[in-house]
Amino acid sequence: MWAFASFFHFIFIFLFGISEKEEAKREGTKERQSTGIQEGRESHQMDSHKKMVMALIVACSTLVSILLLLLSLWIYRRKNSYKPQKKKPQSSDAEKGLTLGPFLGRFNSIKMFGKKGSVSLVDYKILEKATNNFLESNILGEGGFGCVYKARMEDNLLVAVKKLDCGSQDAVREFENEVDLLSKIQHPNIISLLGCCTHCDTGFIVYELMHNGSLETQLHGPSRGSALTWHMRMKIALDAARGLEYLHEHCRPPVIHRDLKSSNILLDANFNAKLSDFGLAVADGAHKNNIKLSGTLGYVAPEYLLDGKLTDKSDVYAFGVVLLELLLGRRPVEKLARSQCQSIVTWAMPQLTDRSKLPNIVDPVIKDTMDLKHLYQVAAVAVLCVQPEPSYRPLITDVLHSLVPLVPVELGGTLRVTQTAPSVDPALPPASC
Ligand SMILES: Nc1ncnc2c1ncn2[C@@H]1O[C@H](COP(=O)(O)OP(=O)(O)O)[C@@H](O)[C@H]1O
Ligand SMILES: [Mg+2]
Repeated sequence: MWAFASFFHFIFIFLFGISEKEEAKREGTKERQSTGIQEGRESHQMDSHKKMVMALIVACSTLVSILLLLLSLWIYRRKNSYKPQKKKPQSSDAEKGLTLGPFLGRFNSIKMFGKKGSVSLVDYKILEKATNNFLESNILGEGGFGCVYKARMEDNLLVAVKKLDCGSQDAVREFENEVDLLSKIQHPNIISLLGCCTHCDTGFIVYELMHNGSLETQLHGPSRGSALTWHMRMKIALDAARGLEYLHEHCRPPVIHRDLKSSNILLDANFNAKLSDFGLAVADGAHKNNIKLSGTLGYVAPEYLLDGKLTDKSDVYAFGVVLLELLLGRRPVEKLARSQCQSIVTWAMPQLTDRSKLPNIVDPVIKDTMDLKHLYQVAAVAVLCVQPEPSYRPLITDVLHSLVPLVPVELGGTLRVTQTAPSVDPALPPASC
């Protein structure tokens, strides 16, 4: 307001050439001056009147321009309100975010049909050709509403195409939600969206291809985790934590993934892990308690399952379950008998906190290959993440910081690997000869 007042005062001075104080002084001297020159006074009054009108016009138009400027600023800010909260200090090149524009620019086949917002619209015919008419042998994985196919675009670029049967409202919502969220998120540990299209009652989402498939297939598929060493597992956990930290701490509004699990953690050719499957993710904190209960058995936090209470700590719980899968090589829910299941959490909990038992339940593929101190640390983190009381669980940022020292420098952590043989249990007395 003060600025406005000064501004108009300035305009007044500019047009009349005097300030109010000077005007008052002038009035004083006028009284003392002779009043005989009438014609001069009349023309002076006409001039003042004209100047007053001009001043009003200038003032009004300036006011309107300022209001328009403020309005456009407000609209611009609202449009851009979904942004990472702040730039986080990034430790390595791998952590620097990619922007979709330059990423897409590298691939001619994806620039095809113009853009809708920041998502490339891909021609259905091209996807049909690239997947050999959605040939079964090109299936990479199967999900709730359809399959994901490997596709070779015209410029030989390999991509993954999710085909969603949008016959139900739930499928349409998942399709729109995933495209909407992924088009706004770019992070090295979150899958890149390359484009999308709809054809008849089917939705298609094009992603970067993750050559090593999902963590679930790597751990529980035919290779049974043999491709994943201890350090690689720790790197995968760190990557997933980085992706999750970005969603929780750097997106505004924060994003809760809601379906974090090993089949939604994908691995690229170098085993870099990225979070995928954002169909159920929620971005708007205000509505997060009014949405339909969704998730996967074994990963759903108890408070969400029982009371529908959804927070970022629900993702931390699911992350803890993934950490247990990486440590123990077991599925989150194992079938015991025909109708009996056992969760990895209830099965492992008593042994995770007992240092003498813990080494015996580690995945046989990595048994005795790690520093026991590190094993105890990771088990302690996992135990905290799967606490039934959400407030006892750590934030994903704390989890991330506890994992960084366990990952070798060359894999994106801070661990300098000096010894080749695993160290002995620090709890045991030194061996005597
Ligand atoms: N970009 C990708 N690269 C390689 N495989 C993928 C890719 N996206 C998905 N998949 C495979 O398809 C499976 C299902 O994909 P997902 O996006 O999780 O679909 P849904 O929403 O149906 O669960 C994944 O678990 C994975 O095995
Ligand atoms: Mg999935």
